[in-house]
Amino acid sequence: MKKQTDCETSSEGCSGELGQLSRRHFLFGSGAALLTLTLPTLGEAQVLRSEYPRQKIGNLSQLIFNQPLKFRYPWDHVNAENYLIRLSEPAGGGVGPENNVVAFNSLCTHQGARLDENFDGKACIAGPCYLHWTTFDLTRHGMVISGHATVGLPQILLETEGDEIYAVGIQGLIFGYSNNRQAPV
Ligand code: FES
Repeated sequence: MKKQTDCETSSEGCSGELGQLSRRHFLFGSGAALLTLTLPTLGEAQVLRSEYPRQKIGNLSQLIFNQPLKFRYPWDHVNAENYLIRLSEPAGGGVGPENNVVAFNSLCTHQGARLDENFDGKACIAGPCYLHWTTFDLTRHGMVISGHATVGLPQILLETEGDEIYAVGIQGLIFGYSNNRQAPV
């Protein structure tokens, strides 16, 4: 004869106390696991950020809407050319009173084509890339909108001190490099 399980004999069935305890344990366990996964990530971000140089790249008062300003960071090299731009709307990582000043590296993450001044502050996009038409969303950390690239455009982390704008790190790898912190030879 088949032996009945706790769920089958309980008047509350599987949604009884045993089931609720299991769910509580599950939720508690999930929260702890999430915390464990998150803490090292935050710590790592702080370490990475502290290893980048802090470099002045412009002034808020001199930045004209939709006119990208070229600068090199974190090295003085053509592949480290980035654009600082004031967008028409607030952006993730944006600085300034309206959180709409952002900066991105200008090498397409698909095959390294140069986006050059193909940054549109009104539409808040970079691209489309002239090789395979990838377009990046500048309000969402350079996320790919369309095209062949699968990785977002590296975003230069910015800070302000009064009117001055500083580059203090990079989120994402510059195309062709396994480490942003080692200057090419
Ligand atoms: S190199 Fe830019 S989309 Fe291919």
